[in-house]
Amino acid sequence: MKTITHPAWAQSATDLSGRTILVIGGGGGVGEGVVRTLLKRGAAVVATGRDELRLRDFADRVGHSSLHVAPLDGLAADLTERADLLAAEFGPFDGVVVSIASWGSHGSKPLLALSDGEWSDLVEDNLTAVFRVYRAFTPTLAPGGVLLQLNGLSADLPFPGNGVVALGAAAGKSLTRTLAAELDGTGLRVYEVILGVVRTRARQLAGVDNPLWIDGTEIGVHIAELVSGDSPLTGEVLHYFIDKATGPVATPPRF
Ligand SMILES: NC(=O)c1ccc[n+]([C@@H]2O[C@H](COP(=O)([O-])OP(=O)(O)OC[C@H]3O[C@@H](n4cnc5c(N)ncnc54)[C@H](OP(=O)(O)O)[C@@H]3O)[C@@H](O)[C@H]2O)c1
Repeated sequence: MKTITHPAWAQSATDLSGRTILVIGGGGGVGEGVVRTLLKRGAAVVATGRDELRLRDFADRVGHSSLHVAPLDGLAADLTERADLLAAEFGPFDGVVVSIASWGSHGSKPLLALSDGEWSDLVEDNLTAVFRVYRAFTPTLAPGGVLLQLNGLSADLPFPGNGVVALGAAAGKSLTRTLAAELDGTGLRVYEVILGVVRTRARQLAGVDNPLWIDGTEIGVHIAELVSGDSPLTGEVLHYFIDKATGPVATPPRF
């Protein structure tokens, strides 16, 4: 069992009672910590993943009466219908958090070794799925609701062996910022949160851990404050959350 010492900035106790937040990819490594915090702050949470077994295991582990899980694939042909059904059952959503990533089935591979199929699968999973999720779920947001993408530093940095994951990250950052500009004035708020290395259950099970890395539950604190409007970064679209002690900031790190 990991021990987490939260830094001072993460000690706030935002109350999300009465709010409903959809976390797409909530059953994943980063999503799990986010979901745990949102539940702790009183929100009802709908968490999704593609793999139903992984999702059920996640739901059993978290075990909370305000947690609902639903399988969802951002590339599904009937995505819009699925979004409408989820919104009818649980929505409208005060927040939609997009926490999806895919590494493909071939493992790490240099760019020039990728086949056409591997390239297009990675682009579909890491970029097209994000666009389709934005298109399907933005209309499910409540007035004043938050659409937020969790992304990684490969949006800004080379990522040898995982070039298309990095391409998806960079393009996802661009998509989110454009969407934020296009939705400016509608009352909806759009955020791009770029994360440093996160302590995840999968990493810990593999024996890889560092208490200095940020924890998913701390990312959840930031999201809770954005949804409630309490965060000092409420008016900024682009956030970097790299340093656990400092917390989220609007200033890009110096590489
Ligand atoms: N882990 C880190 O250290 C780290 C660091 C920086 C940034 N991030 C960012 O955090 C986000 C989540 O990463 P993670 O580490 O939590 O990954 P993860 O453990 O693989 O979880 C990803 C989640 O997204 C779902 N998903 C993948 N492709 C999807 C698609 N096409 N449609 C719908 N759902 C899809 C997965 O479902 P299945 O379980 O069914 O595959 C899973 O629930 C990513 O944006 C990543 O860049 C992570």
